[in-house]
Amino acid sequence: MSAYVSKPQPPTQDKRWKLVDATMRRLGHQSRGLIETLHTVQEAFGYLDESALRYVAMSLRVPLSRAYGVATFYHFFTLKPAGKHTCVVCLGTACYIKGAPQLLDAMQKDLDIKPGETTPDGNVSLLTARCLGSCGLAPAVVYDNEVAGKVSPQSLREHLSKWNHHES
Ligand code: FES
Repeated sequence: MSAYVSKPQPPTQDKRWKLVDATMRRLGHQSRGLIETLHTVQEAFGYLDESALRYVAMSLRVPLSRAYGVATFYHFFTLKPAGKHTCVVCLGTACYIKGAPQLLDAMQKDLDIKPGETTPDGNVSLLTARCLGSCGLAPAVVYDNEVAGKVSPQSLREHLSKWNHHES
């Protein structure tokens, strides 16, 4: 069999793939790290999609079907974004100190959702991450694919109300 010519490339330039790469590196790119790696993907992106599963499978050298098998077997994995919009609040140390808990409070007061939950209308899912790798921006939030820094409860609310008013 031919050797790997080059390392698989992450599906996008999104910085969150660095977290996934770090997990795989820590686990020595072994196939037994599959579940933990998929956890990192889910934590960072909120769901698993085909490109993510493919990338992890190639990197850990397991068949894609096995990645799908694991992703569909365990109920804690989600195979697509639950809500139309996803808000990831970083709870890493830097962000925590700079006010991430107040952001979660604001989400809970305004939308009545906790981390891991989606609003009943399916519009917004709230997720948390350990460190988005942008500590200089603390507290950092990812609104869908866009990273925002120095987020205040006020600016968070403004963003959420935009999502609520533009139904697209
Ligand atoms: S702790 Fe939030 S980006 Fe690092």
